[in-house]
Amino acid sequence: MLPQIRLPLAPTDLWLDAWSDCPDQSEILEQSFAAHFGFPYALLFPYARTALHALITASGWRQRTILCPAYTCAVVPLAITLSGNAVELVDCGPDHFLPGSAEWAKHVTSDTKMMIVTPLYGYPVDKNSEVLARTAARDIFVLYDEVQSLGVSDNNGLQARDADGALFSLGHGKMLTALSGGLLLLRNEGIYREVRALRTNQCTKSTLRDLTRRVVRGFAAWAALREPVFSSLLCAGRFISALSFDQISARELRETKFPSDALVLPSSYQARIGLRQLERLSRLTTARRRVAEYYDRRLREEGFQTFAHSATPTWTRYPLAVSDRKKVISVFAKGKIQLGWFIRYTCEDAPLIKSSAGLCQNARVWARTMINLPNWYGISLADAERCVALLLRLRDQDREASAWPAVIS
Ligand SMILES: Cc1ncc(COP(=O)(O)O)c(C=O)c1O
Repeated sequence: MLPQIRLPLAPTDLWLDAWSDCPDQSEILEQSFAAHFGFPYALLFPYARTALHALITASGWRQRTILCPAYTCAVVPLAITLSGNAVELVDCGPDHFLPGSAEWAKHVTSDTKMMIVTPLYGYPVDKNSEVLARTAARDIFVLYDEVQSLGVSDNNGLQARDADGALFSLGHGKMLTALSGGLLLLRNEGIYREVRALRTNQCTKSTLRDLTRRVVRGFAAWAALREPVFSSLLCAGRFISALSFDQISARELRETKFPSDALVLPSSYQARIGLRQLERLSRLTTARRRVAEYYDRRLREEGFQTFAHSATPTWTRYPLAVSDRKKVISVFAKGKIQLGWFIRYTCEDAPLIKSSAGLCQNARVWARTMINLPNWYGISLADAERCVALLLRLRDQDREASAWPAVIS
C-alpha cells in the first residue's frame, strides 16, 4: 500500500546525529533558517504554535483581533485564543482554497493587529492582500505561516520578503522534521528581544526522557509509514479508532490546550538533525515539484480542473477537489494507494473558536471535498502515473465522483 506521506528522515539520520560530538547548534540552526529565508532574526521553539503564542504574548496584545484563514490547521486559531485574543476567520476563495484579497479586505480594519497569511500546500498567495491590509491597518503585523509551504515563492522571489515574521515547523509529518520544533523568523530587533526574553522565561531544556520519547516516536512514525507495519495499522485502525489515521484531524480540531511538552525546547541533537534537513531542502523541493508538476500537467491534459497558481508552488502536498471524496478514497484504497484528505475541517467547527458558524461557506466546501495525491520525497513517477491512471479509470466509470465540486457562494 502506498502511504499518503512519508518522513523525510531515515533511521540512519537519527543514528549519525546521535554520535556527532559538537556544542549546541541551536543558534546555528536559527541563523541558518534566518539567512535561508531572508530574515535577520530567528528563534527556535518547541512547536510552531508555541512560537506564535509567544509572539502574540510578547507583543502585549489582549482582546485584539487577529485574522487567520478558516481553512488552516486548528492549532493556529487555538494559539491565538489561548493568548487571550480574538480570532477572526477569513474564508477561502470560491474557486481556490486560499483566501484572495477580496476575502481579506472584508476583515481588515484599522484595529486589526495581525494577519496570518498561509500559503497552504506551497501555493503562492495573492500579495495584494498584504498591501491592502497595510493600507487599512498601518501597524498590522504580517506573519507568513510557512509550516505547509517552506520557501513559497513567486516571480519576484520569496513570498515572505515583505513580511514582519514567518513561522516554520520541524514537527512530525512536516516537510522538514527534527522530531519536534518550531521556528519564528523576525525582522524587528525590538520584537525579537521581547520574544526571546519570554522564551527564556517560559521554555525549558529537554531532558533525556523528553529526547528518548521523541526519538522513539520518530522511529515509530518511520516504521508506521512503511510495510508491513503500514498495512497492519490501516487494518487495525478499522477496529481501534486510536490507531486510525482518520482520527488525526478530529483530534486536532477538538484540542483546547497545548500538548504537555509545549514548552520543552528541542535538544542540541535535534538542532543538528534540523540543520541537516535544511541543507536538503532544495533537493526535497525539486523532487516534490517534479511529481506535482506531473500531476498538474496530466490532470489538465485530461480535462480535470486543478487549483490555479501564479508561480510554481513548493507543493508540500498535491491538492485536488472532488465531488464524492469518500468514493474516490475508497477506489484508491482498493488500488493500494492511500489518499490524504488534509485539511478535512474548517476552523469554524473548532469548539474553542465560538465564531458564528456559517460565515465561511467556501472553506466548508473545500473541507468536504479536498484530497491530496501522494507527493513525498522518494515517491517514484511510476507511482504518480498509477494515481493518474486510477483517477482516469474512476472517471470512466463514474464521471461525477471525481468531478470538481459545486461551490456554494
Ligand atoms: C498550516 C499550519 N500552521 C501551523 C501548524 C502548527 O505547527 P506545530 O505542530 O509545529 O505547532 C500546523 C500543523 O500542522 C499547520 O499545518
